[in-house]
Amino acid sequence: MEFSNIPNHVAIIMDGNGRWATEQGKPRIYGHKHGVDSVRSIVEAAREIKVPHLTLYAFSTENWERPKEEVSVLMNLLVRSLRGEFRKMMQNDIQLNAIGNLGNLPKAVREELEYVTQKTKNNTGMVLTLALSYGSREELVQTFRCLAEKVKRNTISLENLDESVINEHLYTRNLPDVDLLIRTSGEKRISNFLLWQIAYAELYFTDKLWPDFGKEDLHQAILNYQQRERRFGKTSQQLQS
Ligand code: FPP
Repeated sequence: MEFSNIPNHVAIIMDGNGRWATEQGKPRIYGHKHGVDSVRSIVEAAREIKVPHLTLYAFSTENWERPKEEVSVLMNLLVRSLRGEFRKMMQNDIQLNAIGNLGNLPKAVREELEYVTQKTKNNTGMVLTLALSYGSREELVQTFRCLAEKVKRNTISLENLDESVINEHLYTRNLPDVDLLIRTSGEKRISNFLLWQIAYAELYFTDKLWPDFGKEDLHQAILNYQQRERRFGKTSQQLQS
């Protein structure tokens, strides 16, 4: 792998925990538990190859519709993982960040997030962002509401409202655009994830289910990304000159 051309921002839709469990005749929850192991190895792998920003879709606004018990297991797993991995984040210089409608999360999750984000805020090795209770359209609605309010109060003029102003008001205001978006489990959808931020992202889909997605698979995705030519609307010739 070329270490000079590592994507600045990798985002992952971690899909397939439920199917992985079902394939083994186990309850869905079993898949989520193994999903956490994959999260751990992918965070380690990304840090090793010096990916500066890694964003994981851990819980969508739509996921609230799942059976109560599954939601509660996912929330417990989150609390336990944050608590359990905190030390390793410090050792590896990882900064934790969370995006989404965080106010909807249970208090225990909010408190754990608050604690870990606060303690890791000066780490600079990698920014690990968890998208929790996140939906891109909801993010855009919040953003537009906030901007409309500012225009109404004359703190932003309509003439100055441009892409960079919108960027600064998104949950992702401190993150660069996504370079590589990975989705596991064979589905080829975006599912309301970072719609604005993936405008020029390279998309990578793999049939592997999330609990089976390991370090080698991340390397494979990045290798594939490195072989692509990103033209941003220009011609090949323009890029070469
Ligand atoms: C998708 O599988 C996975 C999720 C909705 C949750 C992802 C959560 C984790 C991996 C665990 C907690 C996260 C962290 C960051 C510690 P699915 O249930 O949609 O699978 P299916 O499509 O096969 O049903």
